Amino acid sequence: MRKVPHLMRVADRENLQRGLMEITSHPEASVFVIIGATGDLAWRKLVPALYNLFLDHWLPKRFEVVGVGRGEINREAFEGHLREGVAQFSRRGKAEDGPWRDFIAHLSFLTGALDNPQTFSDLAQKLSAMDKEWGTRANRVFYLAIPPDFIEPAIRQLAKARLNQDRERARIVIEKPFGHDLESASRLNAHLTSVFNESQIYRIDHYLGKETVQNILAFRFGNTLFEPIWNRRYIDHVQITVAEQVGVGHRGAYYENAGALRDMIQNHLLQILCLVAMEAPVSFDANEVRNKKVDVLHAIRPIRAEHIHQSAVRGQYGAGWIEGSHLSGYRSESSVAPGSSTETYAAVKFYVDNWRWQDVPFYLRTGKRLSTRISEVAIQFRPVPHQTFPPGALLDWRANRLLIALQPEEGILLRFEVKHPGPTLRLSPVMMQFYYREAFKAAPPEAYETLLLDIMRGDPTLFMRADQVEAAWRVIKPIQEVWETVNPTDFPNYPAGSWGPEGAEILIAQDGRSWVMPTILQCRDDIAKCGVAAGNESKGEK
Ligand code: BG6
Repeated sequence: MRKVPHLMRVADRENLQRGLMEITSHPEASVFVIIGATGDLAWRKLVPALYNLFLDHWLPKRFEVVGVGRGEINREAFEGHLREGVAQFSRRGKAEDGPWRDFIAHLSFLTGALDNPQTFSDLAQKLSAMDKEWGTRANRVFYLAIPPDFIEPAIRQLAKARLNQDRERARIVIEKPFGHDLESASRLNAHLTSVFNESQIYRIDHYLGKETVQNILAFRFGNTLFEPIWNRRYIDHVQITVAEQVGVGHRGAYYENAGALRDMIQNHLLQILCLVAMEAPVSFDANEVRNKKVDVLHAIRPIRAEHIHQSAVRGQYGAGWIEGSHLSGYRSESSVAPGSSTETYAAVKFYVDNWRWQDVPFYLRTGKRLSTRISEVAIQFRPVPHQTFPPGALLDWRANRLLIALQPEEGILLRFEVKHPGPTLRLSPVMMQFYYREAFKAAPPEAYETLLLDIMRGDPTLFMRADQVEAAWRVIKPIQEVWETVNPTDFPNYPAGSWGPEGAEILIAQDGRSWVMPTILQCRDDIAKCGVAAGNESKGEK
């Protein structure tokens, strides 16, 4: 029987309605408890994100932010401090008087030490009083914005005060670093899940809240065009670059025990890899999406100890120049050991051993104090199977490439070949470009806005499940083990302002390939330059 395309089935219509309600639904009455309210995270990220959600009318009518912290808080001074954080870090800049006043009317503080049970019984009382006043059972989000050493004690105190008991409405949020290695992450998971159900736990990887990172899924599974060629038959390799211009700043003490592999590859870059490599989820159900991502992590080929030096490269920045400023090397940063062997750069080659990706390398690289701040995924397609054109036409020929620009510019670019205008037959690479800012005329929300709203709505899709975190630690474990036992002899091995150590070039060059120089910044401003950028790479490019 012929289908009548314009008549939607009743079931489809119901699904659509349900879907619309889900994506536009506002959270129910919510109390957002920030444990560690006087810290940096609350100041830079959480309060600016909550304020933006408030301005955009995403917060429910009945909501309260409760800051828990040590030491007496002078309310007026603290409000000023938070407002300054909004001015500095919110995408909207300074807060206007009226809305800010309305927002802070929803703010309260509770002073007390995190290892003191009294703090948490006071909190429990406050939350019950609020429920009574509102005549409802509000969502309770306990956001642990505290250093790793305080996490387990805080979980214990929450449990003692029975604040974990409402399995539906009580939620706990944990920031990275989630453990230091596989063993400590498993221990932390065991402790957490002995107190909270997995469905109550939200482990944050803020990259998953970034609009363009989520867009990888929309792009892959919302279009028919690319999915059929998204596999080993058509893709030569994938590159994931997260380059930072900043150094370690005041985080030296944390970073000395972390390094680029733990700080970035274990979480942000591996999560991006999962989104690029995963199979299509059957639905957008949180567990379904996360299952598909875990499948990828399980399929990553373990790197044998004797092959680490061919598959992973580390680096540390020395002094150098960025945009006219001379910057000191990592070993001179505060709280960093003068002979530190912590890596500030890591590049790794992974293989995903499954039907889709067998023998397609995924090259990941990240570093601090690099030349530019840019994050990009480059999907490099294979050359055409047969060249129809005469050699003279192919001087500028390049295989197709898809660039997914994650930040600071957000967009998607596709490089393809056209005929160069003129009487002779010559192919020339050009770029087809899509930029978020131009297409939607609006700045996308910050990652934390999306994530905080999802927590209040009770949607864990963009958060890390226990097995995901452990699988990611398992992937980097062999590299960690070798790097911990063999000290680097050449640190610092790249100057601030460069693109990283020479070893990273060798890592990819040994396969006859080269790193894609981020072209998006040139393309953004000047389409003519973009044409040049699309074609001006070395001939050895694969
Ligand atoms: C954090 C790392 O998770 O991500 C930092 O701990 C890093 O070292 C930061 O600078 C990068 O995040 P973004 O959003 O600025 O790319």
